[in-house]
Amino acid sequence: MNFEITAKDVMGRIGRLKTPHGIVETPALMPVINPNLKFISVKEMKKMGAQIVITNSYIIYRNENLKQIAIEKGVHGLIESDLPVMTDSGSYQLMVYGDVEIDNRTIVEFQNQICSDIVVPLDIPTPPNASISEAEKDLKETLKREKEAMELHERIDDNRLIAAPVQGAVYPELRRLSAKRAAELRADFYPIGGVVPLLDTYRFSDVIRVILEVKSELPPSAPVHLFGAGHPMVFAMAVALGCDFFDSAAYALYAKDDRYLTVQGTKKLEELQYFPCSCPVCNDFTPRELKKLPKDERQLLLGKHNLYVSFEEINVIKQAIKEKSLFELVESRIRSHPYLVSAWRVIKEYKDLIELYDPSAKQGFFYTGIESIYRLAVQRHHRRILNLSLDEKRYVISAKHVLEDGQTAQADFYLLPVFGVVVGEFYPGGHAELPEDEYIEEEALEEGFNCLLDFLKKNRDKGFELRLTKRWVDFIRSRRLKLPENAEIVEIEEVKRDN
Ligand code: GUN
Ligand code: ZN
Repeated sequence: MNFEITAKDVMGRIGRLKTPHGIVETPALMPVINPNLKFISVKEMKKMGAQIVITNSYIIYRNENLKQIAIEKGVHGLIESDLPVMTDSGSYQLMVYGDVEIDNRTIVEFQNQICSDIVVPLDIPTPPNASISEAEKDLKETLKREKEAMELHERIDDNRLIAAPVQGAVYPELRRLSAKRAAELRADFYPIGGVVPLLDTYRFSDVIRVILEVKSELPPSAPVHLFGAGHPMVFAMAVALGCDFFDSAAYALYAKDDRYLTVQGTKKLEELQYFPCSCPVCNDFTPRELKKLPKDERQLLLGKHNLYVSFEEINVIKQAIKEKSLFELVESRIRSHPYLVSAWRVIKEYKDLIELYDPSAKQGFFYTGIESIYRLAVQRHHRRILNLSLDEKRYVISAKHVLEDGQTAQADFYLLPVFGVVVGEFYPGGHAELPEDEYIEEEALEEGFNCLLDFLKKNRDKGFELRLTKRWVDFIRSRRLKLPENAEIVEIEEVKRDN
């Protein structure tokens, strides 16, 4: 196996990918190197945190000078680095210009010849607005080319890796078929292609669906690359859904346009009075100083800042995986754009898939907003509480854990928003940090109430006294919710604090 997973959270993981030029720790960001341009050197990128880079073999192939250097010295000699190098095939040019002057076999053989660490066939990225029959036709051709690439690859028989890109536009069944076929080929590396137009237009819900449909067919041990995703604002979300690699041309493209990347989104340099960053560039310059520099110097410095923030975000994500707080990190990152918020809510539809990945042992539960309800810890708790067997005839369920006088409320169970019925120290209810009942969102009460209702119904031969706070009583009344016969509501008096 070339890919070893060492830590997990949600569907994300920290992994190690073995390449002929060394091991890459994931999640990893591959900066795009344009072999035609002198920009930030690979040596400098390595210092910033790059462990692998990506370049385009089609651009090299078309330029006689670059081609000769690459044939003589390999792609590593051409870009003057011993870091692992992935080479793309010209598919992106195919998408942008509609045509390329190369065939699959030639470009795959060329990538082999120049000693690429990760070889990419000439897949066809179908645009999102294509009909299902166009997408299907493109996919058939992509699958044929991947098969051909695998056969060429097997003949070379060294340890370089071969990628099988997944296409299928926005059609779930085509994405699943593409992923299934790619997995059957036993490729080493699985890029999810054709998502750039979705990312560029902020169609994050579509991106999430594409990723999750693909993940549902790939083995969990497969390294997954989100092709062309280079904006740090989407990294945490994509990692949480199981993407291991990103490639960024964004750092350079945005710099060219005087745009400054942050995890909250993109800023125009001209609008910035202060830099919200302490990277070496932002430490050495004020926005005003940077604006005054000649274009090429400014572009280089902006490019560096853009890379620094991107690598910083990768580290933040890795640390969150180690701490098992990736849900919390994503829930905070999605606040930077409304379409990210709505996109993340799509995970509700994929709970069973996420369940297969998300490790169940976690330290705690930190509520950040209604999306926290979608965490698996919640549904796992609901299942567990329904499986409890009760011996007594009557029970007290209290909506307050701690009374106003500081005493622990005497009760057999407690009622919490989100989790519903919890036993004293029962994880995660017992270790959950939630806003007070008075201030929490209705959705959180609703989720908790549904759990309570299932619990009462499941134990219909027992009697329950529900000691509820005003907030709960109001909630139940305003929604005209009915409780089963075995439950009796007692509104507990809330002692006002002396001021
Ligand atoms: N770069 C961005 N998107 C794609 C894609 O779908 N395929 C390939 N090969 N490269 C890409
Ligand atoms: Zn900076």
